[in-house]
Amino acid sequence: MRIVLTAGAAPRLESAKDFKRFSIALEATLTAERSAAVAPVAELEDADHAWVRPDAIRAISPFAGQPDWENGFAAMVGFAVKHGWVDTQGRIRAHIETIEALPPVDADAFRQAMRRFASGVCIVAAGDGEARCGMTVSAFSSVSAEPPIVLVCLNRRAAAHACVTSAPSFSINILRADQTEEAMLFAGQRVRHGAARFDHDWEAGDHGAPLLKTALQSLTCTSLAQHEAGSHTVLIGRVVSVTAGSPDAALVNYDGALGRFDRAS
Ligand SMILES: Cc1cc2nc3c(=O)[nH]c(=O)nc-3n(C[C@H](O)[C@H](O)[C@H](O)COP(=O)(O)O)c2cc1C
Repeated sequence: MRIVLTAGAAPRLESAKDFKRFSIALEATLTAERSAAVAPVAELEDADHAWVRPDAIRAISPFAGQPDWENGFAAMVGFAVKHGWVDTQGRIRAHIETIEALPPVDADAFRQAMRRFASGVCIVAAGDGEARCGMTVSAFSSVSAEPPIVLVCLNRRAAAHACVTSAPSFSINILRADQTEEAMLFAGQRVRHGAARFDHDWEAGDHGAPLLKTALQSLTCTSLAQHEAGSHTVLIGRVVSVTAGSPDAALVNYDGALGRFDRAS
């Protein structure tokens, strides 16, 4: 197995079931700050070696807890003990190898590419009363139908980020074609900010998140998991209720502009 550490991403375990190899792969861009780069999983011994905490390996192994994997992992640790590669704290010594930085992609070229993906637009909202918060999001996707799971990607710099990601539940309110103004309001593009944006069109939902009564459809989720990726948090929610909804014309985000999608048009 190999722990892969790349810029802007959580540690990843590659070849998790290969118990014959154990190393840390450090992206070349991170080698100047080795100690900080390995810190999520290990403590540095010297430039080429680190002591890896077994709990950190379990935390990133997709197979942790499965008997086959646990047996293989225990055998690997046993082998390391024999060679003196496990210290008194149970940490396992790993060689640090440097891997090529991923090929750079121009940020503007990436944004331009993503503009070609048409998506709906929704407002993610959470909180109660004066603590209500929300933001316009197009990075919303279904993950699983049974059980019903969705995800949204939220910029950590957005004012609503802390409030939405720390709330026990949040709502996703899919906007109608005529709700460009709502989209702009919750994108921080208007003078009103914060809870003042929740007017008479909003109501308190049964599960503790505000619902936009005029939305095409609203879903309420309890927070299931979060994953940091680059500048954003991927927030995963288990859907606990959906409103009745309607198939009216939807607001669509495409090529840097908001438009209308109508099945009849
Ligand atoms: C159409 C549209 C789609 C957006 N999609 C996202 C998104 O998926 N994720 C995100 O973090 N921000 C997205 N934003 C930007 C946020 O809405 C915006 O950064 C945030 O509301 C800023 O809030 P603040 O100025 O109060 O911090 C989108 C904005 C618009 C207009």
